[in-house]
Amino acid sequence: MGDFDGKVVYITGIARGQGRKHAIRFAREGASVIGLDLCASPSEHVGYKSATEDDLAQTVEKVRAEGGEILAEIGDVRDLAFQQDLVARGVEQFGGRLDVVIANAGICNWGKVWEIDEQQWQDTIDINLTGYWKTLKATIPHMLAADNGGSIVLVSSVAGLKAMPVQSPYSASKYGVVGLAQTAAKELGEHRIRV
Ligand SMILES: NC(=O)c1ccc[n+]([C@@H]2O[C@H](COP(=O)([O-])OP(=O)(O)OC[C@H]3O[C@@H](n4cnc5c(N)ncnc54)[C@H](O)[C@@H]3O)[C@@H](O)[C@H]2O)c1
Repeated sequence: MGDFDGKVVYITGIARGQGRKHAIRFAREGASVIGLDLCASPSEHVGYKSATEDDLAQTVEKVRAEGGEILAEIGDVRDLAFQQDLVARGVEQFGGRLDVVIANAGICNWGKVWEIDEQQWQDTIDINLTGYWKTLKATIPHMLAADNGGSIVLVSSVAGLKAMPVQSPYSASKYGVVGLAQTAAKELGEHRIRV
């Protein structure tokens, strides 16, 4: 018996890191997992190593080793239509419900406010903030249709609570996530969905 037996979870950025850990833990608790990951470089301004298709395959293997079902695909959170299609297929495959959403896929990069270039700013906002809104747009209608209540988690950062030097697009995106989450919470409370 797990805390999430029979429930369905959608998680973005599941190939590695925190997203992978969320997927494994939910599977251990009995949930079915829907997830995506880019598995490639998200921006020329991300200097650290990208997740790979092999990382995503390992997540799938680890979720199944916990006895969990998973629908995992390569995709970009910036692509609203892709997220909508993946979530719709996952909800259908796992019994017509969606209980938990975790917007997790994010990038980080560095540079002073006046030294970063336009694309660096835009890529960070597009993924970390607009990408999260696209995740909400793709998922909330399914939660409302199932009328089961549920939980949505938008992963912010300490940089969304306190300014971090040389991380202005990251910090701005993560402060934005806090505002997005609090607004969605006020809109969804009456539907028993916690954000
Ligand atoms: N690691 C930390 O110390 C830390 C601290 C605070 C907040 N966070 C936040 O936690 C979340 C996860 O961080 P992490 O440390 O596990 O990072 P990570 O880089 O290990 O994992 C992020 C995953 O998201 C994927 N991804 C990136 N852009 C994508 C896109 N456009 N579409 C689909 N997938 C995409 C990556 O391929 C990667 O697999 C992020 O939102 C991050 O900002 C992390």
